[in-house]
Amino acid sequence: MSIFEWNDRYSIGLQQVDEHHQHLFSLLNKLYNDFINKIRGDNITSLFDELVDYATYHFSAEEYWMQESFFPHFEKHKEEHALFIRRVVEMHKDYHEGRRQISLELLTFLNDWLSAHILQSDAEFGRFINAGNFRI
Ligand SMILES: [Fe+2]
Repeated sequence: MSIFEWNDRYSIGLQQVDEHHQHLFSLLNKLYNDFINKIRGDNITSLFDELVDYATYHFSAEEYWMQESFFPHFEKHKEEHALFIRRVVEMHKDYHEGRRQISLELLTFLNDWLSAHILQSDAEFGRFINAGNFRI
């Protein structure tokens, strides 16, 4: 079963960014599947680790493209990433130190933030690039 899935609605019109987003959704979906199938231990832990690592990498890549193209909302966008990643890193640390488990609430938080961020902020970047002559 998959509920946290990328679909065309999330396309921002930039292939490289869309591919990153697809990968993020795919990791989130795997994590969700392990969660509902009650798979715990190393498998789910390494998926959570991978998701945090990949999200960090993805944000750096996006910020690089934004800076290179002189995207006017770069600072605001970077701040959105920073606030989110700070919360995620804290959740991840709590998980590793036994103070938190993977839960539907955690998965929903990740999915809701990611979806809203793509549809609003990332889509704004897509429009900016596609309106100009910049290439990423
Ligand atoms: Fe973003």
